[in-house]
Amino acid sequence: MDDLKAKYLGQIADAQDEDALEAIRLAAVGKKGEVALKMRELGKMTPEERQTVGPALNALKDEINSALAAKKAALADAALDERLRTEWLDVTLPTRPQRQGSLHPISQASEELTAIFAELGFSVAEGSRIETDWYNFDALNIPGHHPARAEMDTFYMHRAEGDNRPPHVLRTHTSPVQIQSMEKMGAPLRVICPGGVYRADYDQTHTPMFHQVEGLALDKDISMANLKWVLEEFVKSFFEVDDVELRFRASHFPFTEPSAEVDIRCSWDNGQLKIGEGDDWMEILGSGMVHPKVIAAGGIDPDVYQGFAFGIGIDRLAMLKYGIPDLRAFFDSDLRWLRHYGFSCLDVPALHGGLSR
Ligand code: PHE
Repeated sequence: MDDLKAKYLGQIADAQDEDALEAIRLAAVGKKGEVALKMRELGKMTPEERQTVGPALNALKDEINSALAAKKAALADAALDERLRTEWLDVTLPTRPQRQGSLHPISQASEELTAIFAELGFSVAEGSRIETDWYNFDALNIPGHHPARAEMDTFYMHRAEGDNRPPHVLRTHTSPVQIQSMEKMGAPLRVICPGGVYRADYDQTHTPMFHQVEGLALDKDISMANLKWVLEEFVKSFFEVDDVELRFRASHFPFTEPSAEVDIRCSWDNGQLKIGEGDDWMEILGSGMVHPKVIAAGGIDPDVYQGFAFGIGIDRLAMLKYGIPDLRAFFDSDLRWLRHYGFSCLDVPALHGGLSR
């Protein structure tokens, strides 16, 4: 019996891993192990022999089991030590750079202008980017074969053959929301609508998808002077300057009469765009007094109500504010590009904490 004990305790001490331990356990104290075989021999013994051998075998079994358990724990400790030794971390290393997100300049500009117009009493309406040609054109006094339809380089939605419903378009401007706002809210009315619009156009200052904010104010006594004041207040506030020079150029839109395009004084210096100084002008918006037919299309009596509307290019505003010379940069750029232009929202800790004016 002492031989058995010496043999197994020796093997256990030498075991290198848990598999080896399990093999030893089966051979020693398993159901068919050596100790079990010895137990079976008890039956052939005299009662006296049995009284000494029986408890001795049980004791041996216990001893082997606890040696196995102790070794198993020791092996686990050693494995953990090994992992700690090989997988250590150098906590003094510099951290990996975190990917940092930020608002897109156009989103930032939209939030800012929404806040400014809110202060001027305009609420926000939202339309959809896919419109019927009624809202995008007809209701705005742009009938079927009006050249303005071609001028706007419209994207038409695909129609299955035999589908005779009126065509849907990707809205070419935010003006359809004028009609929808009149229908929903009636007059008097003061509303802006920021959002994406589409035209088949692509160069340094035109992209096929861009952003506008529509403005509409209707009441009984609104004039062109109100339009001018609102636009000047807005531009000064947006560009955070005391004075900006705006140029109102007589123009034509089917949905306003009279109409004006508005330019802002700027200059290009070494590819850098500067606002408020220089000999260049950049067109930022179209505007005018809402055409009576448009007011009527919105379900409001044009003999009682009149007002102004404007459509501002948000991308243009962002270019001017952040000095970005090429509109296309808005579409294929990342944070390095924003930093290059010193984009201000990177320094503002609370992005949604209101205007940093
Ligand atoms: N919808 C016009 C455009 O996209 C802008 C505009 C809006 C002009 C409202 C006048 C009044 O060019």
